[in-house]
Formats: sequence, structure tokens, C-alpha cells
Amino acid sequence: MKTTTTILSVLIISVCSGCVKNAIEPVETTPTNTNTIADENITYNKNIKPIIDQNCGGCHHPQTLNILPYLTNYEEVKFEAENGTLVSTIFDENPRLMPPSNPLLNKEKKLITKWINLYYPK
Ligand code: HEC
Repeated sequence: MKTTTTILSVLIISVCSGCVKNAIEPVETTPTNTNTIADENITYNKNIKPIIDQNCGGCHHPQTLNILPYLTNYEEVKFEAENGTLVSTIFDENPRLMPPSNPLLNKEKKLITKWINLYYPK
């Protein structure tokens, strides 16, 4: 009789913990969700360069439309970040929004702002 009770309670416990585990299963997030990147993992090469290359490289590069300032490498992008031009152009209509009439996504702007606040990790 004692063994039966023990087996029964083990069964009940394992069934219940199964339920609880399923109930608190987190909602799946897509791996591309940049909001979830931890601050200490943000770097120019991993997170900022792809955004700049894709959204600014078509104009601000000597081999494309050749428009200054060039934004082709860490030093050039950091320079524009340090003097405040990078942030003012990606956020503000005035004097001009970059990319022209095609603003960055909020998560991209947020990443760039974080990168600047972290003093431009390379
Ligand atoms: C379609 C082409 C194009 C794209 C894409 C583009 N720009 Fe520009 N950008 C320009 C032009 C043209 C100017 C010069 C505008 C002027 O001086 O009137 C300019 C000027 C700038 C300047 C100088 C502004 C100043 O006041 O000195 C910065 C900084 C800049 N862009 C940043 C960016 C960034 C960052 C991106 C991407 C997020 C970007 N641009 C994407 C065309 C582009």
C-alpha cells in the first residue's frame, strides 16, 4: 500500500510539473530582434556596419554616389557619431533626414544610439 502511494505521488508530481513547465513556456522571439541584444555585445562590426552599409553605403561611398561624408569604415562613422551629425541626421527632418525620405527602423536608430552611448565599441 505504501509503495502504491509513493508511486502515485511521484506520478502526480511529474504530471503536474509537466503542466507548469508548458504553461510558462516563453513566447518565441525571432533571432533578428535587435531589441534583445545586450548592451555589452553591441559592436561596430557586428551591429552598426551592416545598418550603415545597407542604408547609407549606396550614397556615402567613393564607389557608389560618392557623396561626403564617406561612411565606409569604423573611423569615418565614429567621426560623424562624435560630432553629433550621425544622430541628428538619422533622427531629424531638419536640416535633413538620412537616408533621404527613407528613415531607419526604430530598432536600428536605437542600436546606433546605444552604440554611441557606449563610446563606440569596435
Ligand atoms: C540616396 C542617397 C543617400 C543615402 C542613402 C544617404 N544619404 Fe546622407 N546625404 C546624401 C546627400 C545628397 C547629402 C548632402 C546633402 C546636402 O548637403 O544637402 C548627405 C549628407 C549627409 C550627411 C552630412 C550632413 C551635414 O549636415 O553635414 C550625413 C552625416 C549623412 N548624409 C548621413 C547619412 C547616413 C547616416 C545615412 C544612412 C543612415 C545616409 N546619409 C544615407 C545622400 C544620401
